[in-house]
Amino acid sequence: MEEQIEALTAQVQSVAGVTPPELGLVLGSGLGHLVDLVDGIKIPYADLAGFPDAGVSGHAPYLALGLLEGRRVLIFGARSHYYETGQADAMRLPLSLFKALGGTRVLLTNAAGSLSPDCKPGDLMLIRDHINFSGQNPLIGISDDTRFVSMVDAYNPNLRRGLRKCAETLGIALPEGVYAWFSGPSFETPAEIRAAQVLGADAVGMSTVPEVILCRFLGLEVAAISIVTNMAAGLSDEAISHEHTKAMAPIGAQKFEAILRQALKSVKEI
Ligand code: HPA
Repeated sequence: MEEQIEALTAQVQSVAGVTPPELGLVLGSGLGHLVDLVDGIKIPYADLAGFPDAGVSGHAPYLALGLLEGRRVLIFGARSHYYETGQADAMRLPLSLFKALGGTRVLLTNAAGSLSPDCKPGDLMLIRDHINFSGQNPLIGISDDTRFVSMVDAYNPNLRRGLRKCAETLGIALPEGVYAWFSGPSFETPAEIRAAQVLGADAVGMSTVPEVILCRFLGLEVAAISIVTNMAAGLSDEAISHEHTKAMAPIGAQKFEAILRQALKSVKEI
């Protein structure tokens, strides 16, 4: 993988320059259009050797690198999920590339189902911690001791503080909560959601957790925001579907974009 990362680094730097990105973003379902916010270069994943297919509809498989609010950001417009490939480490190469380009901080986004009456469709939730219900881990197979990564404060407390402050400034509710990763691609059963509630989950989704583990493995600081697109299975009469996720995500995406811009503007926060 080292050679692949070196080649990708040279490829990206040859078109985007060598200035390190100050923030990396991974966009979730229905947020892919945010790649177009960046004033800079945009490369299709298909042109980046070893990058995942990331073929889920509602995602934009482009790497964008350039300026947003005067700050240099790198956006991964799409992620590969465990359920697409059966590989939990599908985002290892993109996140390693971000590190090789000199990046240190990552903000992940996802679409999620809510288990909490405080978070309704269209609301945001800042992830404080997670529960891994998938039985999978992206570090399985790494053979040295670097695989034993601490997950205490995995969701960086300083980044979280900064994001909460930005949300408060804008008057956008950003409650913190626990995100539970289910593998998908089927949605959860109502019984699974009741179990997750008892165990302390506030939101459920099919992504993000492997990337947080990979970020901590790589020594990157990470934070993550869920965009609530539905109440989780059994908690409302509304049918759950990917179409619904894509239709609802843009509502939360507007709030997310406002917080992101505010965070980039107030340099201290992120
Ligand atoms: N469950 C899992 N993933 C999701 C959901 C959900 O209810 N909504 C959006 N992504």
